[in-house]
Amino acid sequence: MRKGRDKDCAIGVFDSGLGGLTVVKELMRQLPSEDIIYYGDTARVPYGTKSKESIIRFSIENTKVLLKHKVKMVVVACNSSSSYALDTLRRNFRVPVVGVIHPGAKKAIDLTKNKRVGVIATSATVASHEYVRTIKGYDKGVKVFAKACPLFVPLAEEGWFRKPVTVDIAKEYLAPLRSKNIDVLILGCTHYPFLKGALKKAVGGKVELIDSAKEVASAVRALLTASENGKVSTRKPRHKFLISDRPQEFKRIAKNFLGRDIKHITKV
Ligand code: DGL
Repeated sequence: MRKGRDKDCAIGVFDSGLGGLTVVKELMRQLPSEDIIYYGDTARVPYGTKSKESIIRFSIENTKVLLKHKVKMVVVACNSSSSYALDTLRRNFRVPVVGVIHPGAKKAIDLTKNKRVGVIATSATVASHEYVRTIKGYDKGVKVFAKACPLFVPLAEEGWFRKPVTVDIAKEYLAPLRSKNIDVLILGCTHYPFLKGALKKAVGGKVELIDSAKEVASAVRALLTASENGKVSTRKPRHKFLISDRPQEFKRIAKNFLGRDIKHITKV
């Protein structure tokens, strides 16, 4: 990271829509004095059903939106974008770019005892094989079982976190992973942490769930601690929310997601 002005700039975070607020919530918890600018591409959500080319193009455009606000780093909260666009973003932009795949994969390696790891994600993320590649990059001996769960995103957006229907759908999706005797399950999509209760019921109590939002926030904290030498700020942090469509809808769901009111939302 460049020295000087940068450390006083905000952390930029983008996602395909609302789901990245799970990452924002963790950043606020782990880095309470940092300014954050969030961009949710609500006009083009979902990314998880789109092609690699579209996801890369959208990710470049989202990064440009954040850079107009002079962010000091870009956190790619979206797993689908992290799966396909990370290298392109790192090649094209000078700010540090942090994705969600590596932190979640690393945590799985640390936690698995029987070396059998499950991953649930969008269809795009599963098709990219990025989690499998990354986990095997750490340890070739780990067996990875990935499953696309496309119905989870709309269930989370609807706020149906623990409804019986959500548990039933989770049981259906997770049955093949359960039969593989996994001991760790990566929630490889921004929205899935909200369904933790239902997922836990469906996969069984012995399986550890990995929340990639938590892991990426820890990775950002480690990066900032290393580059900013333990910056301490006493002023109130500024949190800005930008979206590409439907601000009222965003406000309603974001309140549910973040557990607090968002006053200023700008449509870009
Ligand atoms: N943010 C996306 C992800 O984490 C989920 C929602 C979508 O499909 O756009 O992959």
